Amino acid sequence: MRVLGIETSCDETAVAVYDGARGLLAHEVYSQIALHAAYGGVVPELASRDHARKLLPILKKVLAEAGPSGIGPAPVQAVAYTSGPGLVGALLVGAAVARSLAYGWGVPALGVHHMEGHLLAPLLEPDPPRFPFVALLVSGGHTLLAHVTGVGRYQILGSSLDDAAGEAFDKTAKLLGLAYPGGPHLAALAERGRPGVFRFPRPLTDRPGLDFSFSGLKTAVVVALRNHGPLDEQARADVAHAFEAAVVDTLVIKCRRALEATDCGTLVIAGGVGANRRLRADMLTMGAQVGVRVVYPRPQFCTDNAAMIALLGHLRLSVGQTDGLAIRSRARWSLADLSPPETSVTIPRPAHP
Ligand code: KG4
Ligand code: ZN
Repeated sequence: MRVLGIETSCDETAVAVYDGARGLLAHEVYSQIALHAAYGGVVPELASRDHARKLLPILKKVLAEAGPSGIGPAPVQAVAYTSGPGLVGALLVGAAVARSLAYGWGVPALGVHHMEGHLLAPLLEPDPPRFPFVALLVSGGHTLLAHVTGVGRYQILGSSLDDAAGEAFDKTAKLLGLAYPGGPHLAALAERGRPGVFRFPRPLTDRPGLDFSFSGLKTAVVVALRNHGPLDEQARADVAHAFEAAVVDTLVIKCRRALEATDCGTLVIAGGVGANRRLRADMLTMGAQVGVRVVYPRPQFCTDNAAMIALLGHLRLSVGQTDGLAIRSRARWSLADLSPPETSVTIPRPAHP
């Protein structure tokens, strides 16, 4: 089965085609970063308008690259789109285009969960993880740990009580005068920082539990900046280094606890912050220490993309799950509200993933 995936939940317009037998055939991501940079964050109305401008040209390009399906007149056998969580106006653009195409082609459509897409994105890799595993989802809007026993079977072990990890990166980057979106810029600056010059707390690691809290860390940075006075470039790098170390250490400690609590032999890291090099390295070190396999999607499939949406669509549509003609866009939608498809899903093992 060949599935078209469309992602427009925030500030990336993305389209992909995934084939169960042949793997990912084509994918494209157009980032709106330049559009929102002047405002220091995503402007929802501008995001929706830009999705409406860019989606059809990207779609044409991706479908041309994927080539004809050879089965029936439609280029794909099903369409999946991100139904939430995200910016409602932005989501509606992808949903309307996806549902209309499916109607025109006479194929089924399914609205899928953005975070479930992130969570299962490692299944795009050549040596995918097997269930059960512990998943750490670290994005701009979410930070959570889940025990994953199958598609749609997610037990939330812990989540952020306030800011998500990516949000903390972005807000701290702003304090350091870095451009939006701050996470990757802060990470780049941190590489030039010296260890131990500043030290920030590892929130909620001094007590049992798997929840996170990152907003106090941002306040600790504000206080450090205030006490220090004007910062030169080296001092800014030192602050960035200490902040990144605090977030990464905290995530590593909690993942280790979650692995012990569930006795799982695999840890999956997904979401935009999963692209962070220090996080990737430190998690691999921890995994080696406790004898656990640590799996990441490629960095380009950690941040928002449609390959994960097309794959997730394939997993659910291939066992007959579909939506009716109505479209649904949900700003808020908990992973815990998802359920597994009625028929058990076989994870595709394409020849060329
Ligand atoms: O998953 P994603 O692309 O979008 C959401 O669903 O939120 O995650 C975006 C988040 C942003 O907060 C961004 O700053 C952060 O991921 N991010 C990073 C890095 N790359 C992206 N944070 C730290 N280090 C990075 N290298
Ligand atoms: Zn995302």
